[in-house]
Amino acid sequence: MLRKIDRLYQISKMLYRKLVIDAEYTLSPIDRHVMQTALYSDWAGLFHPSYGAWRVKRCNKILDIYGIDFFKDRKILELGCGHGDIGAFFAELGAQVLGLDGRQRNVTFARLKHRNVAGIRFEQFNLEDDFSGFGRFDLIINFGLIYHLRDINAHLRACFSCADDLVMETVVCDSTDPYKVTLCDEKKLGTPLDDNESSIKGIGCLPSPFFIERVATENGFRVDRHFTPDLNAGVQFNYDWSPKNDGRLGEGLSLRRFWRFVKDVDGHFAARTTGELQSVESAATM
Ligand SMILES: C[S@@+](CC[C@H](N)C(=O)[O-])C[C@H]1O[C@@H](n2cnc3c(N)ncnc32)[C@H](O)[C@@H]1O
Repeated sequence: MLRKIDRLYQISKMLYRKLVIDAEYTLSPIDRHVMQTALYSDWAGLFHPSYGAWRVKRCNKILDIYGIDFFKDRKILELGCGHGDIGAFFAELGAQVLGLDGRQRNVTFARLKHRNVAGIRFEQFNLEDDFSGFGRFDLIINFGLIYHLRDINAHLRACFSCADDLVMETVVCDSTDPYKVTLCDEKKLGTPLDDNESSIKGIGCLPSPFFIERVATENGFRVDRHFTPDLNAGVQFNYDWSPKNDGRLGEGLSLRRFWRFVKDVDGHFAARTTGELQSVESAATM
């Protein structure tokens, strides 16, 4: 057994050295910096490998909803974009993406990492403040952010005023009360402070899923729930849990919900995806 562990350790050391040597001799200075920053990060926050699977599942969900062709020339706002990997993916599909994050270091890293992706830019902005000055967008991506904010009423209002189409994902509390939102010290939720992924001030909040849906409906949006197992990734990211209405707070950040919200314009929900346009067209000819 011990020999096996030692062998595994030696192999991982060899692989690690190879990565470092490859980085030293084959990458450009900026790519080397980006790769080594991740390599020497101790998997902290946004560098944790669990982000990979979580990101892929959510990007696939967006592709399921909109298809690939939707993104060409669409204006997208990604809120709490971290290192910008989600926005960069859709920029590569032709979208014009603005990524906002509250941490200058994340923005700097995102700019370096995605400097060769056309159509994406990043700015530092505290999303506790009103961001509606950035203009209107075809789509807002709001992932992994809500539970890091204090005043989600104001934040959601700004979201619903800047776009007619949104995808949103957050940790929630298990309650059916449409007015329930609990402020929480992030230390108690299990996110390390002073890293690159948590709340800026250490205080976040956990709304009930019905809180989010109520605000969306009050703002004239249709609510599409995606509480589906295809989004689940590892122990920390669960979307298809059964409600118990027992007030559980996030369950170690694993109690999550995912929605798409579409604006009801003059009695008709904005039909934007190819599939939706086709069904609207065929309904009109019936
Ligand atoms: C859990 S990470 C999610 C990253 C990415 N959106 C994703 O889902 O993979 C949360 C991100 O929100 C950012 N953030 C937290 N509080 C913020 C605030 N008040 N204003 C702007 N960004 C904030 C963090 O810096 C971090 O990049």
